[in-house]
Amino acid sequence: TITTIFVIAGAYLIGSIPFGFLLARFWKGIDIRKYGSGNIGATNVWRTLGKGPGLLVLALDMLKGVTAVLLAKQLENTDITVLAAALAVMAGHSWPLWLGFKGGKIIATGAGAVLAIAPLPLLLAFLVWLTTVAWSRYVSLGSILGAVSLPLWMIIFHYNKATLIFSVLVAAFAVWKHSSNIKRLLNGTEFKIGRKKS
Ligand code: G3P
Repeated sequence: TITTIFVIAGAYLIGSIPFGFLLARFWKGIDIRKYGSGNIGATNVWRTLGKGPGLLVLALDMLKGVTAVLLAKQLENTDITVLAAALAVMAGHSWPLWLGFKGGKIIATGAGAVLAIAPLPLLLAFLVWLTTVAWSRYVSLGSILGAVSLPLWMIIFHYNKATLIFSVLVAAFAVWKHSSNIKRLLNGTEFKIGRKKS
């Protein structure tokens, strides 16, 4: 329906707001894409500009995900529309209209969206993320393993088939967006937290 199209387009546009880029640009006067990993996400903003800006970008990017899902639930509360809106907000974050379609790695935005759909699975995925990051010092590895664990939690908490398929797509999307990180992890050049790298 027209509402479905509106919800999905709206979710894409919400996801398209590049908070990391905007904050670095207008608050700190730098192009975040030229620093660290070159990513516009919270991790790279934290790495480059510090904890405060990093946490702010994390919160704002998560809010995009939550907002898109709540908007969908408000306007057309069917599984398909809500899940499509969640994918659309991640697509918007990943391929933003305003930055030549070069965006982020969907972890914060995806976490917000999944939080509003399946809070317990998201919590467990977050624990996987936290444990991995604490143990390895690689944020990217935590993000990858957290995302890949999602389908398992969907099964354990008896989410329906559509939501399970959705979580598999999210996991694949997240892994794919981390290909440059995976290359760096494999050749030992990935950024570690708690240490400056030239
Ligand atoms: O959420 C993104 C994170 O997993 C990796 O970020 O900047 O290290 O590529 P970055």
